[in-house]
Amino acid sequence: QDTFDLVVDEHVHQFFPGVNTNTYGASAEYLGPTLILHRGDTANIRVHNQLAQITSMHWHGMHVPGEQDGGPQRIIDPGTVWHATYPVKNPAGTYWYHPHPHELTAEQANMGVAGFIIVRDEEEAQLALPRTYGVDDLPVVVQDRSFVANGNFFFGPYGNTVLVNGTPNPYVDCPAQVVRLRLLNGSNARVYALGFEDGRSFHVIAGDGGLLAAPATTDRLWLSNGERAEVLLDLTGLEGDSLLLMSFGSELPQTVPGANNMLWESSTLNGIDFPVLRIRVTAPTPEAITTIPATLVPQTPPDISEAVRTRTKLITGNGMVGMGMFMINGLMYDLGVINDTMQLGSVEIWDIVNNSNMAHPMHIHGVSFHILERNGQAPPAWEQGPKDVVLVDRFETVRVIMRFTEPSPPEWPFMYHCHNLMHEDNMMMLQYIVTDLSTGAPEGMGTAGSRVFPSPTTGQLTYESATPVQHARLIDALGREVWKAGLQGATTGTLDLGPVPAGTYVLLLHGAAGSTPVRVVKE
Ligand code: C2O
Ligand code: CU
Ligand code: CU
Repeated sequence: QDTFDLVVDEHVHQFFPGVNTNTYGASAEYLGPTLILHRGDTANIRVHNQLAQITSMHWHGMHVPGEQDGGPQRIIDPGTVWHATYPVKNPAGTYWYHPHPHELTAEQANMGVAGFIIVRDEEEAQLALPRTYGVDDLPVVVQDRSFVANGNFFFGPYGNTVLVNGTPNPYVDCPAQVVRLRLLNGSNARVYALGFEDGRSFHVIAGDGGLLAAPATTDRLWLSNGERAEVLLDLTGLEGDSLLLMSFGSELPQTVPGANNMLWESSTLNGIDFPVLRIRVTAPTPEAITTIPATLVPQTPPDISEAVRTRTKLITGNGMVGMGMFMINGLMYDLGVINDTMQLGSVEIWDIVNNSNMAHPMHIHGVSFHILERNGQAPPAWEQGPKDVVLVDRFETVRVIMRFTEPSPPEWPFMYHCHNLMHEDNMMMLQYIVTDLSTGAPEGMGTAGSRVFPSPTTGQLTYESATPVQHARLIDALGREVWKAGLQGATTGTLDLGPVPAGTYVLLLHGAAGSTPVRVVKE
């Protein structure tokens, strides 16, 4: 039932009458269909790559094993099909899909490959919320694009034209009742400060990863790249009126992409307040929702006492919105390096610290997190649900907590990165694996023809590998590297684990073909 085909292909689309624009789309000329998934079912999605270049398809926000995540390792060659299949575990919410090929993500997304994923579940179904898709429950993806003289897209960090669901100068007819907007910032780099022209307030009911404990009422909502929010807007009694959803770009500080920062790339939309979507209010529908629920879904974030480790992710570097040398802990993306190893099921706290010259929307695959603190304070109410993107401004520290429930072997690591797509493709990305030390890595036996023995060992360990091994690393149950050795491409040899404390570890043998995890017990 949750079965789809997504055909990624080149198209020509007219955003403006008579003007042809070359696009990419997923089973559409531009963007792709909304995939409606049901928690507890199995998603089966076949991704057909009809482009002349490689692609991949990532299920942003979905809790799927590393193998199914569609990151840069999961290359779909031109003319081939990738059949993704995974159990739908996420709570009801708004997620999305987009390509994630190495250094091509921004360009392919800019050309139009992206779409919504809506997850439905029983908890959400119990609530009196609008959920008639296209009537009182509307997907709203906001993108900025620029067009060059021949009608084609300009590829850069900013655009001068706002598109909603691929439409310039967009408007939508909404019935005079409570309506639900599922907002997604699908732009390359611009951050939006959303609100209504007349200053009316609205009710945020969900963030990136599902419903909040209760609606959070506000008149302004920032949405950074990749972030989602579901909001309820009460249009009761407004039949015949027209409202304007705006981005109040003049309110963005100089450190946030979309501000009018003279040192950065320019755009006519920078630093100004501009319209995003016109809402024309029509007659109410039968059985309209007319009230805002008082409560939604109780939150169950992991408890701080469960955290086995705190990691600091320090962002440094100076750059522009469309490029830069931004680093996470002094590192940039290397497809062949695993940057972190987590124990399956463990809870960790991460402090994301931004010492660079601008704000970055930081995203992590494979989990949802809860924000514990922004600069030592509780986050605003609408940021208190499950999330997977958080905007971290210059000199801010954001503390998040998360539980790693999805496994990812070294061949299929999860990414964490800046979701400014230009920065992401400029290597502002690292990767991690999630392994189960008790059962995940078979003891003494690697997955790619490698073998280590004896285990348990008192010190000496012999390894044999089918492929050359460059270096070996021993990772403890908290994901810390406790020992490492360079092996110069040998396929067999002896490792001296004498100085290593007794315990159970994962040994990673790194070679050109990736790393092979082997479970090792030291006595
Ligand atoms: Cu929207 Cu790495 O993802
Ligand atoms: Cu993602
Ligand atoms: Cu960034």
